[in-house]
Amino acid sequence: MKRLKLGVLASGRGSNFQSIIDSVESGYLNVEIRLLITDNPNAFAIERAKKHGIEYLVITPGTFSSKDEYFKGIAMELKNREVGLVVLAGFMRIVRKPLIDAFSNKIMNIHPAILPSFPGLHGQKQANDYGVKISGCTVHFVDEGMDTGPIIIQAAVPVSEEDTEDTLSERILKYEHRIYPVAIKLFSEGRIEVAGRKVKIKGTVFNGEGIINPPLPG
Ligand code: GRF
Repeated sequence: MKRLKLGVLASGRGSNFQSIIDSVESGYLNVEIRLLITDNPNAFAIERAKKHGIEYLVITPGTFSSKDEYFKGIAMELKNREVGLVVLAGFMRIVRKPLIDAFSNKIMNIHPAILPSFPGLHGQKQANDYGVKISGCTVHFVDEGMDTGPIIIQAAVPVSEEDTEDTLSERILKYEHRIYPVAIKLFSEGRIEVAGRKVKIKGTVFNGEGIINPPLPG
């Protein structure tokens, strides 16, 4: 079978991009990272692409007549390289229809909260300020809404009374790095089926386990 080609879109430091690179290099993921596209010429993700010999393009909206044209341009670059899955890894723009239609249920995003709670920017701060005891992260397919697409996988991460936005973000990030490669692996193995809002994963067994936080007193 032909190896799935990934197109990664990132705007910043790219630690999730790195976790995907590492998963490919370790052999966990049998995919090719075909291309990085960034809207930020200073994104550290570019350094990561260079280091690992991954092609990258800096595509900024300024050179396009509209946002739709911008995303049409991005879709074209991805299609030209036969990308089969688009992975948003800290891409700081709302993806528009031309890209979504070109890759229907083939665009994933990772969000640092348990959706549908705390969508949008600063999910970790929103959760911490709200006082939830459990937050986490979510990988989902991208639709036209803000973090609203079908959910593929989530990880629960406990919130401490002492947490700041930074400490909670750091704890959640470790789980982001764990679940994003899993979601990509499931996709690459053809094990993800989308039925309306629901994502079905073939070949997994529900085990009903949960976590309680704070821990029960002794
Ligand atoms: C992550 O927290 C991700 O959940 C959010 O943006 C951040 C990107 O971090 N969408 P990085 O660039 O992957 O390090």
